[in-house]
Amino acid sequence: MTVHVVLREEELAVGEARLVAVGERELVVYRLQDGFYALNNYCPHQGAPMLAGRVGGTNAPSDVYCYRYDRDGEIVRCPWHGWEFDIKSGRSLFSERVRVRSYPVVVEDGKVGIRI
Ligand code: FES
Repeated sequence: MTVHVVLREEELAVGEARLVAVGERELVVYRLQDGFYALNNYCPHQGAPMLAGRVGGTNAPSDVYCYRYDRDGEIVRCPWHGWEFDIKSGRSLFSERVRVRSYPVVVEDGKVGIRI
């Protein structure tokens, strides 16, 4: 695997996302509170661009008539049909078998690289 440097750390603030290209791949780099994460810019359902997805939280399991919003800033919601994905792993929130491909991100000397 090779590390492809795609941007500098200071180019992306916490809570922001950026589209980058590595060869033929379009990837989205997200900066969360605890670091950088990279997902394919392609929803596994019908191919929507994940960059256009709203980043927020999700409804956590709770008692009847209770509402518990959780994981704010860690979940991306597909812009076309609303499937939710964990930015840190690419996993959908509804199935272990559905995921956006994710890639390890390496930060070194202020440079953000994706290992592919
Ligand atoms: S294209 Fe993403 S949920 Fe349908």
